[in-house]
Amino acid sequence: MSSSQIPGGQPLLKVSGLKVYYHISQGVVKAVDDIDFTVNCGEFVGLSGESGCGKTTTAMTLLKILPREGVIEGGQALFNNRDILSLKKKEINAFRWQEISMVFQGAMNSLNPVHRVINQMINAILIHEKMPREKAKEIALELIESVGIERSRATAYPHELSGGMKQRLMIALALVLHPPLVIADEPTTALDVMIQAQILDLFKQLRQRTSLSLLIITHDLSVLAETCDKIIIMYAGKIVEEAPTEILFNEPAHPYTKKLISSFPSILADKEIDFIPGNPPDLIDPPAGCNFHPRCDYVIDRCRAESPPLVDEGGHRVACFRRNEI
Ligand SMILES: Nc1ncnc2c1ncn2[C@@H]1O[C@H](COP(=O)(O)OP(=O)(O)OP(=O)(O)O)[C@@H](O)[C@H]1O
Ligand SMILES: [Mg+2]
Repeated sequence: MSSSQIPGGQPLLKVSGLKVYYHISQGVVKAVDDIDFTVNCGEFVGLSGESGCGKTTTAMTLLKILPREGVIEGGQALFNNRDILSLKKKEINAFRWQEISMVFQGAMNSLNPVHRVINQMINAILIHEKMPREKAKEIALELIESVGIERSRATAYPHELSGGMKQRLMIALALVLHPPLVIADEPTTALDVMIQAQILDLFKQLRQRTSLSLLIITHDLSVLAETCDKIIIMYAGKIVEEAPTEILFNEPAHPYTKKLISSFPSILADKEIDFIPGNPPDLIDPPAGCNFHPRCDYVIDRCRAESPPLVDEGGHRVACFRRNEI
C-alpha cells in the first residue's frame, strides 16, 4: 500500500514517554523505556522486533494487566483523550473489551475444552452487557460467521475445530463488544501457513468492512507487510524506527531494521539471508549509548556514548545518528 492511501483518521491511541520496568530480585528490567507512538482511527499498525524487546509488555500496559513486578514508571497513554494509565480498577474493567480488546499470544489454546464454543461466546457477551440470552446468541452467531466459520459449527467443542478456526474464534471473541481498538499479540505464530493465510485474510476483510484499528504484534515481518499501514520496530525497550509499511521495507533507515528485513527469506526472495550477529542486551544492564551499538555495522564513537533520539522526518521516525549516511 502506498503511504498516500493511509487512512487519515484522528489519533485513537496516543502513547507518550511510556516506561515500564520489572522489579525483580536480580535488578530492574527496563522492558519499555520511553516510547511514543500513535494509532489512528481505522489504522492497522504493526509492532515488531526480536524476542524480549518489550512488545507484549507494551500491550499489557495498555490493558493494565501487567504482573505485580511490572511497574509503569512514567508516561501517558491517551485513548480518545482519556488517560488509560490513570484509570481506576472499576473504570478499567469497563474499559477492557469495550474500548480495547486483546488476542493473546497462544490464545487459541485458552478456549475452555468442556464448553461448546457458542456458549463461551454468549457468556462473554452477557458478562459485559445485560440482554436476553437469545439476543446474545444471535450476536455470537453473526460474529462467528464474520470470521468465516459456518453457523452450524458453532455448537462444536474446541477440540472439534482446527487450529485456524480456534484462532479465528479468539479474534471473534475480541470483537464481541465492537471495541475501536484490538491488539493482537502474535496472532499467527505457531500456525501453519494455510491457517496463517486465513487469519491474514480475515484481517484484510475486517479492514475493508469495519472502522476497526488494529495493533498487530509479531516477529513475522511478512504478516505486517500484508496487513499494516505503518510499522513500528522496537529494540531493547525502545522504538528504533517507524514508517509507513512500504517505506519501511523499501527504505529502512535504522541498521537494526535493515538487518531484520534482510534476515527474512520470504521478503527477499532471491537475495541471501543475513543473520543478525549476537543477542539483544540484558535489559537490567543495557549498554551505554545506543542499545544496538554492540551489534551494529555502522557504529561510531558517538553511538557508544549517547542514546540517539527518535527523529521524525515526514512521518518516518528513526533513532540513529547515521540515518542519512547509511
Ligand atoms: N514478569 C517479568 N519479570 C521480569 N522480566 C520480565 C517479565 N516479563 C517480561 N520480562 C522481560 O521484559 C522484557 C520484555 O519482555 P516482553 O515479553 O515484553 O517482550 P516481547 O517483545 O513480547 O518478546 P517475545 O517476542 O518473546 O514475545 C524481556 O527482557 C523479558 O525478559
Ligand atoms: Mg511477546
